Amino acid sequence: MELALETRSPSEARAEVLVLGQYGDGARPAPEIAALDRALGGLISRVLKSEKFEGKPGQISYFHTGGAVPAERVLVVGLGPLKRGARTRDAEPVRRATAAAVRRARDLGAASIAVFMPATALPARERAQAIVEGAVLGTYRFDKYLKEKNGKVVRTLTVLEPDRRSAAAARDGVRIGRIAAEATCLARDLVNEPANVVTPTFLARRAAEIADESGLTLRVLDRAECAKMGMGAYVGVAQGSEEPPKFIHLTYTPKGRARRRVVVIGKGITFDSGGLDLKTADGMLRMKDDMSGAAAVLGIFQALPRLKPPVEVHGLIAATENMPSGTAQRPGDIVRAMNGLTIEIGNTDAEGRLTLADALAYAVEHIKPDEMIDMATLTGAVVIALGQGVSGMMASDDGLAARVLAAADGAGERMWRLPLHDEYKDGLKSDVADLNNISSQRGAGAIVAGLFMREFTAGVPWAHLDIAGTAFTERDLALGPKGATGVGVRTLLTYLSNGLR
Ligand code: BES
Ligand code: MN
Ligand code: ZN
Repeated sequence: MELALETRSPSEARAEVLVLGQYGDGARPAPEIAALDRALGGLISRVLKSEKFEGKPGQISYFHTGGAVPAERVLVVGLGPLKRGARTRDAEPVRRATAAAVRRARDLGAASIAVFMPATALPARERAQAIVEGAVLGTYRFDKYLKEKNGKVVRTLTVLEPDRRSAAAARDGVRIGRIAAEATCLARDLVNEPANVVTPTFLARRAAEIADESGLTLRVLDRAECAKMGMGAYVGVAQGSEEPPKFIHLTYTPKGRARRRVVVIGKGITFDSGGLDLKTADGMLRMKDDMSGAAAVLGIFQALPRLKPPVEVHGLIAATENMPSGTAQRPGDIVRAMNGLTIEIGNTDAEGRLTLADALAYAVEHIKPDEMIDMATLTGAVVIALGQGVSGMMASDDGLAARVLAAADGAGERMWRLPLHDEYKDGLKSDVADLNNISSQRGAGAIVAGLFMREFTAGVPWAHLDIAGTAFTERDLALGPKGATGVGVRTLLTYLSNGLR
């Protein structure tokens, strides 16, 4: 999709379909829309009145202009009520409305679309960014394996910013929105690809491509090197697979002085069969998505050199499959993680925390970060707790937690903090090792996994995002179709580019 910014009013916009945003609850139309209405002899107000258009979120009205203005057709989309107070800068209604409108315009055959959203409540930069994110994410498709592809595609999307004084800000918004949306689509593609394509070796190759594009530093460790470095927990998970594991370490270094050194870790189980504690057929079905955290990390690293935030960022992925075989790890085995802690394997299906434990310990020892954030499709329990629309967040540091939650809010990704309740740690006791990888107590599975991982953070401020419910969707959502969502990418990009204060 070609993206452009034009300092034109809707009345002058040239496009097959002109999209206009309208807030609800009787909000007056933006002055630019009122002017267009006059140019069209009152057509817009007549149509909206007869259709009882209320500006509800996603509500759409569509008509031809008859040639009175350059745009052939108009599509009015509802933005919902204009919220006053706490969230007046909420970009999500603009994102969602644009996604719905551009999708509809595309399905109505439009290849060129111009979008105007009222300036009310949202500054020009944020508004343009939200429009671009909505358009690109909302029209995402994964059709590379289909013989018959849908021929309806949007070729050009033009963001309208009639106010010349806001043109520079809006141009910046288009640029940032494009980078964030494309990074999200990169993550979606990787997750939607099946596990016979996306192996640990494939992830390492993709990391190399991303690193080569913009001169990032990349280090990839193989099985023997990881074993030698003492990553017994990670290597134990990998020992049942023919596919060789790859430990991926990407580094982005800013030009000037770095404000902070942040490690971002993604769970990279390219297929989770459960191991010898084999999953059921139903439970295994979607387990190609168990590398969604890793995919988010790669999306973030494609974006960082383009966004250039003043932060040093390290990306870690301990990639492997989790497979049953004659060489697979057994329940009851004891492994030693890089920080020296021994772990009794209570269940081979609790593999994610084992791989993440060594990634955290590696970060602490070799990177010495100011803070660490991991993203992981870690537990079925978080899906029970929060469902498919909200990611679970756990953190060892209140400041970091608050900053990440604020970034998530700005990105429109729902996230809720769960408590790392110390007493639940008792369940992780083992008679023969320092820790068991599953709890002997019932419930709070997401928190227990968080508590397990905290043992490997050595007191470095750390936030953990459990995205098991949000990384993949079985139904179409406002910002994308069924399948991978690319969750985490925009939250962390928002955090790394302006949430570090
Ligand atoms: N990858 C799964 C978690 C998962 C479940 C992701 C559903 C997406 C959807 C993880 O490795 C796992 O198997 N967790 C177990 C842990 C249990 C054995 C303590 C779980 O949640 O059942
Ligand atoms: Mn598992
Ligand atoms: Zn898993």
